Amino acid sequence: GSSLAVFTSGGDAQGMNAALRAIVRMGIYLGCKVYLIYEGYQGMVDGGKNIQLANWYSVSGIIGAGGTIIGSARCMDFKERPGRLKAAKNLVKFGINNLVCIGGDGSLTGANLFKEEWSSLLQELLETDQITAEEREKYSFLNIVGLVGSIDNDFCGTDMTIGADSALHRIIEAVDAIVTTAFSHQRCFVMEVMGRHCGYLALAAGLASDADWIMIPENPPEKGWEDKLCKRLAVQRESGHRLNIVLIAEGAIDRDGNPIKSDYVKDIIKNRLKIDTRVTVLGHVQRGGSASAFDRVLATRMGAEAVLALLNATPDSEPVVVSLNGNVTCHVPLMESVEKTKAVAKAMADKDFQRAVELRGSS
Ligand code: F6P
Repeated sequence: GSSLAVFTSGGDAQGMNAALRAIVRMGIYLGCKVYLIYEGYQGMVDGGKNIQLANWYSVSGIIGAGGTIIGSARCMDFKERPGRLKAAKNLVKFGINNLVCIGGDGSLTGANLFKEEWSSLLQELLETDQITAEEREKYSFLNIVGLVGSIDNDFCGTDMTIGADSALHRIIEAVDAIVTTAFSHQRCFVMEVMGRHCGYLALAAGLASDADWIMIPENPPEKGWEDKLCKRLAVQRESGHRLNIVLIAEGAIDRDGNPIKSDYVKDIIKNRLKIDTRVTVLGHVQRGGSASAFDRVLATRMGAEAVLALLNATPDSEPVVVSLNGNVTCHVPLMESVEKTKAVAKAMADKDFQRAVELRGSS
């Protein structure tokens, strides 16, 4: 059978463990040797104890646990060729030339570069007597499949990333908790949620929690938005509401591209409406805790699909990302999705918000 390895990279997300479990078990079920690479790309570069053969029970009892049991890192060494050379050598020595990368767009870009460089890395290893000619021959191709693990749901090419649904649950729980105390004291809460440059979490949480106002990067408000916000909240209060919830995506910006800070919004409401207003920044609680049922199932489906994609890959097949399209898991070209994701970031930086939304929507 083939050998494959799985690693998690970049920021963690609930559901990564469920994906790991599915990959290990599907791989073993299909007769593969499955390795776990600890600490992301760093473990691949460092080798040794960071690369370990898994068995069926290595992934028992983890399906619902948040985080990733094999660790994750943002690795500097892998960004340089010498680091990638070491990683290639380690993989060859373990007999691995099939990889599943669970991470965000940065991690998947790294994986793609690694695949592109593979032949030249092996050539260099051969010339410097670090691998044998037989090894180069045997492992001449590297197959890569990506799974997108990120609470942000910011990746073009999949309707949902692994972790976004769990983070959304966490946010909703927090909003529900805040609402009760806000009601008692007739307060307004400005709640800041994660998502980097993507407003998915704030938007979906706003819909699910009946928030009064939402600010997301994709739809920067026009000048004078402060007046509109205050008017809206004032109307709410006049009609008998005892509280207000304003949800701000951490990446929210105005039309000039300047960040909209939660404290600024709080001060506006406090000073203009004389409403007792507080800021709650949810932070990393959004990325922790157990995975939702949806994420467990999504990650399990994607993990199983990733192994099939690897085993069906031919030397000249392009690396793919396993994605969700509607309710169907499918494959999309890895680089195309990464490029699209980067194009969204560029459109946002260029303040072409319409284009950013179109690009996101077309995937
Ligand atoms: O990408 C996931 C994410 O949690 C973002 O929502 C957030 O901006 C960022 O990572 C935080 O990064 P770190 O965990 O390194 O502080």
